[in-house]
Amino acid sequence: MKAFKQFKLFTAGPVACFPEVLEAMKTQMFSHRSPEYKELHEELTKRMMKFIETRQTVMFFPSSGTGIMEASIRNCVTPRGKVLVTIIGAFGTRYAEVVESNGRVPVKLEVQLGDPITPELLDEALRKNPDVEAVTITHNETSTGVLNPLKELAKVAKEHEKLVFVDAVSALGAADLKFDEWQIDIMFSSSQKAFGVPPGLAIGAFSDEVFEIARKIPDRGWYFDLLLYKEYHEKKKGTPSTPPIPQMIALNVMLEKIDKDYGGKKGWLEMYEKRAKTIREGVKRLGLELVARKGYESPSITAVRAPEGIKGPDVYYAMRERGFELAQGYGPLKETTFRIGHMGYITDEDIKEMFENLEKVIEELKRRS
Ligand SMILES: Cc1ncc(COP(=O)(O)O)c(C=O)c1O
Repeated sequence: MKAFKQFKLFTAGPVACFPEVLEAMKTQMFSHRSPEYKELHEELTKRMMKFIETRQTVMFFPSSGTGIMEASIRNCVTPRGKVLVTIIGAFGTRYAEVVESNGRVPVKLEVQLGDPITPELLDEALRKNPDVEAVTITHNETSTGVLNPLKELAKVAKEHEKLVFVDAVSALGAADLKFDEWQIDIMFSSSQKAFGVPPGLAIGAFSDEVFEIARKIPDRGWYFDLLLYKEYHEKKKGTPSTPPIPQMIALNVMLEKIDKDYGGKKGWLEMYEKRAKTIREGVKRLGLELVARKGYESPSITAVRAPEGIKGPDVYYAMRERGFELAQGYGPLKETTFRIGHMGYITDEDIKEMFENLEKVIEELKRRS
């Protein structure tokens, strides 16, 4: 078998997996209709329900997170219905594309890159557009490294009696999310981000109202029909099509580890906050600026402005030469920024080494510019 070149990963995802995850994924397969699978399905569901603090419905899908982004629109918005899509970067823009390509109408609320959506802005947009059926919120915008004030935004959306759909792909597992208390209707995430598991598994949480609404929506499709999914989930402890069992085993192992080694969700999120702080301080020590507005910095990824005269991709490629895979700037920020991911299996020593190399790379690139 070909050996792939190995890097120290500071990526936006997929991220480096914990050793326990890699070990667990060697498990021999079993049928997804077997008692062994049902046990895994139930255990993982219970653990995730506890993690996101919900008594409603958590389900797992054989897709990446975007699958549930599409499901939220197809199952819960009437054909040609309007959705308020809040956009703080590339993944908000993707949500608008998903709305449009499914024959619904996005009403966009967009702010400057680096800024979050504020509750005041959302309130104003909802007053102007009382006919939208739902609001979409990117919890953590991976392209800018901005964390939206989700709790406050969801509160405003609920005051206007709108459904709240949350893209928590790069937030879940790194930022707090209390599904029931914050009155979220759909939340989705992906395995390859803050839990440090390989890609292929989408995590979804759904309010009871979602299923009532879905019943009235025609043409929900089959693969992401939430009613069909719920039926399989409840009656068969399974999924309509074959789930990615290795990723489910891995996520289960991670949730168990979070409880055992970090004393639960609180301790795990504190680890991420500490790691993010160390990375932000390292960036500032090199005299570099963050894209994110102060007070809204992401716990899972830092987008950094490349210094005057240096291109973001040059930093990225020079770091690869030294054995570190960061992330390139994304979308309109591609040329002017680079990103340092904080997610997955990263040690304090890795962070120290990464910054020692980044300092040298910046010095070299400045000399050449
Ligand atoms: C905020 C956000 N939303 C959506 C996605 C898409 O997720 P996936 O590739 O798992 O479909 C990503 C991926 O990086 C993301 O960061």
